[in-house]
Amino acid sequence: MQQRALELKRAGRRIGFVPTMGFLHEGHLSLMRLARERCDVLVVSIFVNPAQFGPTEDIEAYPRDFRRDEALCEREGVAMVFYPSAENMYAADASVWIDEEALSGRLCGASRPGHFRGVCTVVAKLFNLVLPDLAVFGEKDAQQLRIIERMVRDLNIPVEIVRGPIVREADGLAMSSRNKYLSGNQRENALCLRRSLDQALALFGQGEHDAAVLRQAMVDLIECVSEAEIDYIGIVDERSLAAVDEIKDDVLIALAVKIGNTRLIDNAVLHL
Ligand code: PAJ
Repeated sequence: MQQRALELKRAGRRIGFVPTMGFLHEGHLSLMRLARERCDVLVVSIFVNPAQFGPTEDIEAYPRDFRRDEALCEREGVAMVFYPSAENMYAADASVWIDEEALSGRLCGASRPGHFRGVCTVVAKLFNLVLPDLAVFGEKDAQQLRIIERMVRDLNIPVEIVRGPIVREADGLAMSSRNKYLSGNQRENALCLRRSLDQALALFGQGEHDAAVLRQAMVDLIECVSEAEIDYIGIVDERSLAAVDEIKDDVLIALAVKIGNTRLIDNAVLHL
């Protein structure tokens, strides 16, 4: 991959990159379209990264369908699909990791220790292999996006990070490879994530700036839904991801809810 990337760069081609864990859906494809508009050669990686899964998380159960993914990539004009094995990506005695220390402990990081260390490390490795000029990440994973932006800034990585908006199903559920795990009822119950965000946005629109009030409205809505268990609801400063009491600046409302055994995330940004 690196050899090919070097050749392309020497030929003056601009490389766009979308890293994924595969089982592609419209969310991923929208990022590819964004990248393709801004580059000459589009590279997509498909790698279910062991380093970002916790000991209690089942990496084997992560959905995979390489043939289908490959066909979708081809349709989107992807020039190269990079599909490494875990053995090729990580030396058995790998001992260097990237730890982002300010944003990673919050929100998802609190319930998934080590997760963002795995994400940062693999993304940096993928950048070194693909040598992209720009890489696109989805707002769906708002915390991940901000951590990658921070990593690129703090380590002077010469990659432009582009933000891609959240793509949703017609009924509002944010697209995710994990939606596949939901049964019919659970699929309906999963709408509580988006509905609770809409509720908070509506209250904010009516002038409510107290984060605790917005949060409680979201909790009340979700607690009425069977099989829904809140992991966290964060109302945080859009940049630092620190919790806010009163909304005075742009805030990110991010939540993770388990529907049965499936942990789903969603978010919205409130602009003042
Ligand atoms: P994965 O979950 O496959 O997501 C790959 C990219 O697609 C991420 O940037 C994610 O934010 C984006 N994405 C997922 N669902 C989306 C949606 N509904 N709308 C818009 N974008 C969406 O995120 C990862 O993989 C991994 O952590 C990775 C960055 C590849 C590192 O292993």
